[in-house]
Amino acid sequence: SYQPVPEDKFSFGLWTVGWQGRDPFGDATRRALDPVESVHRLAELGAYGVTFHDDDLIPYGSGSTRREAVVKRFTDALDATGLVVPMVTTNLFTHPVFKDGAFTANDRDIRRYALRKTLRTLDLAAELGARTYVAWGGREGAESGAAKDVRAALDRLKEAFDLLGQYVVEQGYDLRFAIEPKPNEPRGDILLPTVGHALAFIGRLERPELYGVNPEVGHEQMAGLNVPHGIAQALWSGKLFHIDLNGQSGVKYDQDLRFGAGDLRSAFWLVDLLETAGYDGPRHFDFKPPRTEDLDGVWASAAGCMRNYLILKERAAAFRADPVVQAALRAARLDQLARPTAEDGLAGLLADRAALETFDAEAAAARGMAFEHLDQLALDHLLGVA
Ligand code: GCO
Ligand code: MN
Ligand code: MN
Ligand code: MN
Repeated sequence: SYQPVPEDKFSFGLWTVGWQGRDPFGDATRRALDPVESVHRLAELGAYGVTFHDDDLIPYGSGSTRREAVVKRFTDALDATGLVVPMVTTNLFTHPVFKDGAFTANDRDIRRYALRKTLRTLDLAAELGARTYVAWGGREGAESGAAKDVRAALDRLKEAFDLLGQYVVEQGYDLRFAIEPKPNEPRGDILLPTVGHALAFIGRLERPELYGVNPEVGHEQMAGLNVPHGIAQALWSGKLFHIDLNGQSGVKYDQDLRFGAGDLRSAFWLVDLLETAGYDGPRHFDFKPPRTEDLDGVWASAAGCMRNYLILKERAAAFRADPVVQAALRAARLDQLARPTAEDGLAGLLADRAALETFDAEAAAARGMAFEHLDQLALDHLLGVA
């Protein structure tokens, strides 16, 4: 089976299946896809949602008549297929005007243009019923030291997000912002490089409740980080507003492989986390079907993203339900970790001689943690031999 249905909440960016394969070394290997064609194909494959940058849908520079016609044709396709638009974002990186960034460009007129382009996209997002606006700081960064005053740039980034938040509140839009971290590419270094940096930044905004994160699997791995750990902290902070699922093999360029390719074990733990934590947002795929593929390969790659998620969801559920695993979790004392360290309060802790004076550190140190047995059970389940 593993046949996706809309209830699985799988969504895709128009720019993912629509990627023509242009890279820094080579030209496009595929023709452009009509967004309406993508909507129909994604619906046939079992997706529930489609997302886009303003320019993915409405060609850059279109006037208002063209805009309206394009949006009308697109919403007709949504109506015909039942696909929804859960998230919208703005392209602030392709046009050369954004070569030094958008909200943090040194040139003030470019920053004002970036804000207006984004405010216009917020109107479109609200019109199409999107609940999430993703903000990826594509070119907010630098290649050299003196070129960017990072503290001033963070002031400008805060200013921009505060204005966008003010606009959403004043318009009464039901929209929240999800900031997408990335350590580098296309800039040498990008601001808000990891989930942790983004979470800390959000705490400095005027309306922090409006902002969360949109972590991308591969971006955390580009920084050498553990993806499930970062996402667990975002969940723990109540800030996982959206997620970009894809695949990456280690610390190298942004591969944007289909979900399940690359670090499969990390993908297993990520699905386990999302499903057990009750994350109910879109499972959004931000991948690039390799430029070796023709359009059949593109749709095979998109179908593979969903299939792998569903397989991993089944395997993770079987892992959690297995009585042998449950015993192994107890042997590894996960139940103890879930228990507060000092329900008796500070006074109780201070009065407890067993916590210090008579504590047998040697005996405690001698206890094995039984993690290897537990992890092998997980691997058996992942490999389908449990
Ligand atoms: C990347 C980024 C982008 C953004 C997307 C939304 O792979 O570098 O993930 O794909 O997610 O452009 O703005
Ligand atoms: Mn990426
Ligand atoms: Mn992304
Ligand atoms: Mn991407």
